[in-house]
Amino acid sequence: MTFASFIKRHFMTNSSREYLARYNRRFATDAPPGSLVLDAGAGEQQYRPYFSHCNYESADFEMVDKPYAKSTYVCDLGSIPVEDGRFDRIIFNQVQEHLPDPLAVLRELNRVLKPGGKLLCTAPLFYEEHERPFDFYRYTQFAHRHLMERAGFQIDWLEWMEGYFGTLGYQFQGMAQHIPANPVRYLKPSFWPIFFWPFALFVKASAVLLAASFYRLDLAMKITDRGYPKNYALVVTKN
Ligand SMILES: C[S@@+](CC[C@H](N)C(=O)[O-])C[C@H]1O[C@@H](n2cnc3c(N)ncnc32)[C@H](O)[C@@H]1O
Repeated sequence: MTFASFIKRHFMTNSSREYLARYNRRFATDAPPGSLVLDAGAGEQQYRPYFSHCNYESADFEMVDKPYAKSTYVCDLGSIPVEDGRFDRIIFNQVQEHLPDPLAVLRELNRVLKPGGKLLCTAPLFYEEHERPFDFYRYTQFAHRHLMERAGFQIDWLEWMEGYFGTLGYQFQGMAQHIPANPVRYLKPSFWPIFFWPFALFVKASAVLLAASFYRLDLAMKITDRGYPKNYALVVTKN
């Protein structure tokens, strides 16, 4: 285990994980017992336990090389094999950026939701490419409003999922992970970058501590009046 992975495992509380859990718990608590819930793009179904008072179903195309929980529907979210108005609630976490045609999927989610039904969406504004090659977009708050309204939803609320310190924590985590530590990397194609190697190591080590600190700070004080969020969270209702 490297120094960075030791610190990450024992000290790095990624504030996004905690905020995602909070938003999903709150959405679940508001769902009446017995509601039929769809987890759209469910992956490992990590929020399923919050919906134990509901009837839970999941849909995922299971095309990424990673572990999946067993989906109720193995399908593209652009075409979910259920009747109109089946679900009372939909959770749609960290999926919208992976869709080549997000409006078509939002219209499909609108179709399968009951009138008056609610959908929780969380999606990144600032995040590195992941689940390649299925990674297409990042979303501003204006894109969310535009797409949701065109798909037939009314926005109940939209807010930053983390505060700016969460975004900073993520940027420092990226530095800690990606700055090369091996001095040989600094010798090619010319020799002079080797003089920057000690500085790069110092920045890398500092970034580990700064990432851990800013993530913790983000959970203690959520700053949303400056900088920019890593993710937006919104709840919408089917008109
Ligand atoms: C970043 S993961 C998020 C998983 C889960 N929602 C969570 O928050 O833990 C994105 C998920 O969306 C699924 N996905 C991406 N594009 C899809 C599509 N067009 N149709 C169905 N599922 C899709 C992927 O298989 C993956 O499980």
